[in-house]
Amino acid sequence: MKQRWRDFGDYGITRGILAIVLGLLIPAAAEDEVEGLILTWQRDPSTTMTIDWHEAAPLAKPRLLHRRKGAEGWTSATPVESKFPHAPERRVYRVELSGLEPDAEYEFRPAGREQPYHFRTMPARLTRTLRVVAGGDTAPAGVFEKINALAASLKPDFILWGGDYSYSDGQAREIKKEILWHRNIRDHLIGPDRRVIPVIAAIGNHEVNSTVAPYYEANFAFPGEETYGVLDFGDYLSVWVLDTNHRARIAGKQTDWFAESLAARAKDPRRLLIPVYHVPAYPSVRKDEGTTLDIRKHWVPLFEKAGVSLAFEHHDHAYKRTHPLLGGEIQDDPAKGVTYLGDGAWGASIRKVRPPAEVPHLAVSRSVNHLFFFEIPPDGPLKFQALDVAGGAFDRFELPRRR
Ligand SMILES: [Fe+2]
Ligand SMILES: [Fe+2]
Repeated sequence: MKQRWRDFGDYGITRGILAIVLGLLIPAAAEDEVEGLILTWQRDPSTTMTIDWHEAAPLAKPRLLHRRKGAEGWTSATPVESKFPHAPERRVYRVELSGLEPDAEYEFRPAGREQPYHFRTMPARLTRTLRVVAGGDTAPAGVFEKINALAASLKPDFILWGGDYSYSDGQAREIKKEILWHRNIRDHLIGPDRRVIPVIAAIGNHEVNSTVAPYYEANFAFPGEETYGVLDFGDYLSVWVLDTNHRARIAGKQTDWFAESLAARAKDPRRLLIPVYHVPAYPSVRKDEGTTLDIRKHWVPLFEKAGVSLAFEHHDHAYKRTHPLLGGEIQDDPAKGVTYLGDGAWGASIRKVRPPAEVPHLAVSRSVNHLFFFEIPPDGPLKFQALDVAGGAFDRFELPRRR
């Protein structure tokens, strides 16, 4: 290897030409790109999109240009500007586009940058199969980059994330982790085709510093200050992000709201109901205590009553799929119980799972980084795969839309 470098160094002219050619071939250097880019929804995913882009320093005249893909001319929107916590110069520019066409592709770019990004709105009715990726506990770098690239390659309609992102704990001295996390989304989750996948993101314990979650609130327009909320997709899907005792307590106001919100949507038997939260009700690594017992007490009976067939939970840094559970009892048929999927190992260091004899409620548990990929067809069951870092499917299963 040493020899090769020395040989290369002997050809100064060749090296110079190579540098010029490379400069022409590589389109935009990463330094010319935005510092961060997050798409999510605050309202109807079929007609709106919230776009946040980050800049290293304030822009004199920030504008977002957008258009239906293939249309001529650009529409200009003025973003709301805010400072990113603990980074005096960094700015977040936010635009919520509304009145969009359902199931349509849009292009956008900050004014002054040539290459557009693009996204797709969700269908108003479920006339095609939706592709969804889910996971949690991302970490800012390392395996994060690989799972991001894997997620992008699956071309999902959106991503469900369940807390613990950069592991900055909302602290000023950990700002570098936030910056790195954003860059690794920009460079690996967005990818060379510049397709941006919207994310719906619940809060985790590593977002919180005492009672505040400054980076989480700056990073995700949804769910906002309350740190829990629901998004309705037409007449076919509702996704809840819930807060497992991080900024909001489980017992009290949040559970009262969740009970009402869930019951209202459960009235329509066609609607798929998906809760996403951080601490697991049925952990694969940690013991059954604390917040886990709060979830079992306050939310599990609500899931069971409403006909929820699956819930995403995280925090334990391993893979798990429970048996269908009803009242703590294992059911033989997924249509008779709730299946809990987790346990948050998108990019975080994996942990050793509990011995199977200790956790009879688990159908599968493994210490492995992974993501869930699942399809929601217009009719019939949901089809799931758990994929490892290499993209290998190590668990495949189907779940009914409702119990
Ligand atoms: Fe956690
Ligand atoms: Fe974690």
